[in-house]
Amino acid sequence: NEPILQDRFGRRVEYLRLSVTDRCDLRCTYCIPEGFKGFGEPEHWLSFDEIERVIGAFARLGVSKIRLTGGEPLTRRNLPVLALRLSALDGVKDLSLSTNATQLAKHAVELKKAKISRLNVSLDSLDPERFSQIVRRDCLDQVLAGLMAAKEAGFAPIKINMVVMAGVNDDEIDDMVAFCIQHDFTLRMIETMPMGETGRNAQYLDLQPVKARLQQRFGLIDGVMAGGGPARYLKSPDGAFTVGFITPMSQHFCDTCNRVRLSVDGTLYMCLGQDESLALRPLLRAGATDDELADAIRAAIELKPQRHEFREKPGQVVRFMSLTGG
Ligand code: GTP
Ligand code: 5AD
Ligand code: SF4
Repeated sequence: NEPILQDRFGRRVEYLRLSVTDRCDLRCTYCIPEGFKGFGEPEHWLSFDEIERVIGAFARLGVSKIRLTGGEPLTRRNLPVLALRLSALDGVKDLSLSTNATQLAKHAVELKKAKISRLNVSLDSLDPERFSQIVRRDCLDQVLAGLMAAKEAGFAPIKINMVVMAGVNDDEIDDMVAFCIQHDFTLRMIETMPMGETGRNAQYLDLQPVKARLQQRFGLIDGVMAGGGPARYLKSPDGAFTVGFITPMSQHFCDTCNRVRLSVDGTLYMCLGQDESLALRPLLRAGATDDELADAIRAAIELKPQRHEFREKPGQVVRFMSLTGG
């Protein structure tokens, strides 16, 4: 008789993406974050106490997987302290982190101790100049050092997120494959989504042909990875190499969607590509009881839309990616 959250399409919600900041130290062309403004924390951000309270409420409703996102989550002061508090909550079985790795060298060991079980790292290019053009900062060395520190700290397998963009980095796929095989990373290629722009997605590249080509080259077969996210995995027959594809545009995965998102100001978003939301912060600050919080969350899940409409409504402006960390 476990409590569960289920939407009106019969999808079970068990995964929450928690954005701990909307700030980032990089400026990736496809994301457009708020600039990094030091460690000051505006009053409208949920405090660690408030975050713990909300995650506790979700965990009691059967949400067992929490992923920390941003902006860049490691720019939030004392993030490992928050991680440790969340991993200790009853019902939280899987606490993971998506990061750009610029500060990972400094924090990797501490994050491991804070029981972060899985790490996803953004890396779109291995060429220093090109990397700088994509993220608009000069820091590939720092990112690679962060990655190696994470590996050293015992995170395995680390997933590498590569947003593949036509004419920008699509000629680097084979290099990325080789790099990930060499270091035992799981490469995931991602199609760009038109977030926060007026439908402009000029660099979009359909990944199906890429998938077919790699499949043939390595004789890849169906694979699986821990996570429960939207990626579809293939692996080499000897199991030595796994590659994932996240294809929201060419083959969406909304039918099996299991997640919702919480932004740093305490707004719960039901879908990455749609506007349905519920502001939880006013409830928290008005002293809502646990039952009231749970009722509000259940009602919000009823609003979860069937799917994104990035293709059907290309001009629709939804949030910037940096607000909910993907
Ligand atoms: P795992 O738990 O390891 O499976 O993580 P994940 O792949 O769900 O998370 P990550 O933060 O690494 O996100 C990788 C990419 O998937 C990003 O580009 C996200 O925007 C995208 N993504 C994650 N969840 C969704 C989703 O529900 N819908 C869409 N359209 N994209 C998503
Ligand atoms: N489309 C697809 N993926 C994106 N990400 C950020 N913005 C976009 C976008 N517009 C990815 C980042 C990161 C992950 C959390 O989301 O590359 O790896
Ligand atoms: Fe779920 Fe929306 Fe993502 Fe589709 S686009 S998988 S419905 S969050």
